[in-house]
Amino acid sequence: MPTVLAFDVYGTLIDTHGVVIKLQEYIGSKAEEFSRLWREKQLEYSFRRGLMRSYENFGVCTSQALDYTNAYLDTGLSTEHKATLLAEYRGLPAFDDVKESLVRLKADGHSLYAFSNGTADAVETLLATAGIRDLFDGVVSTDDRQTFKPNPDVYEYLLKATSTSAANAWLISSNPFDVIGAVSYGLRSAWVQRTKNSIFDPWGIEPTHIITSLRELASHIADSRAAPETA
Ligand code: LAC
Repeated sequence: MPTVLAFDVYGTLIDTHGVVIKLQEYIGSKAEEFSRLWREKQLEYSFRRGLMRSYENFGVCTSQALDYTNAYLDTGLSTEHKATLLAEYRGLPAFDDVKESLVRLKADGHSLYAFSNGTADAVETLLATAGIRDLFDGVVSTDDRQTFKPNPDVYEYLLKATSTSAANAWLISSNPFDVIGAVSYGLRSAWVQRTKNSIFDPWGIEPTHIITSLRELASHIADSRAAPETA
């Protein structure tokens, strides 16, 4: 049975800070801070909507977080600017290591899935724009469960949608909350430490592997298949 590798999308395959260039045009030196706060608020809104069981899709979280950030930083973005930024968000770039790593993992015989809070439609568009859609066996969206990571229901849904078991599945994510959610559900997980200053949450629940580039993944997966008892 091929190993199922489920890749988180935003922040893992796709660089959410890709909007910085457009933001620099609009707000100059506040662009980096804006991009970071926008992303943090987007995730906070998804967590809160999950807790409140008040589901709106991830696109709504993104859009409302944009409005919040614009108000908080007093950046005065117009409706047109915000519409342009949201359009950019639908076509963000992939990180440099993504394509070649996916090609290698697919050649190794693994089944590759994109697994995201984003709606299937949004994720399909992102992957197609980044030129990597063909490398995936499918897209699994938490939207089908009307909730968000790290609700255990979405990891259960991932296994169901990919017809596999926790023992045969890996979650690959740069988001510690996603890794902790997957490991807690019994999956193995690689945490992609995309920047030196990203810190893994000290909850006592550890990733199976820590990598700094997706290029490191293939050898870890191969090793774990050769010696599952040490994985
Ligand atoms: C995703 C968010 C969590 O793609 O980055 O699911």
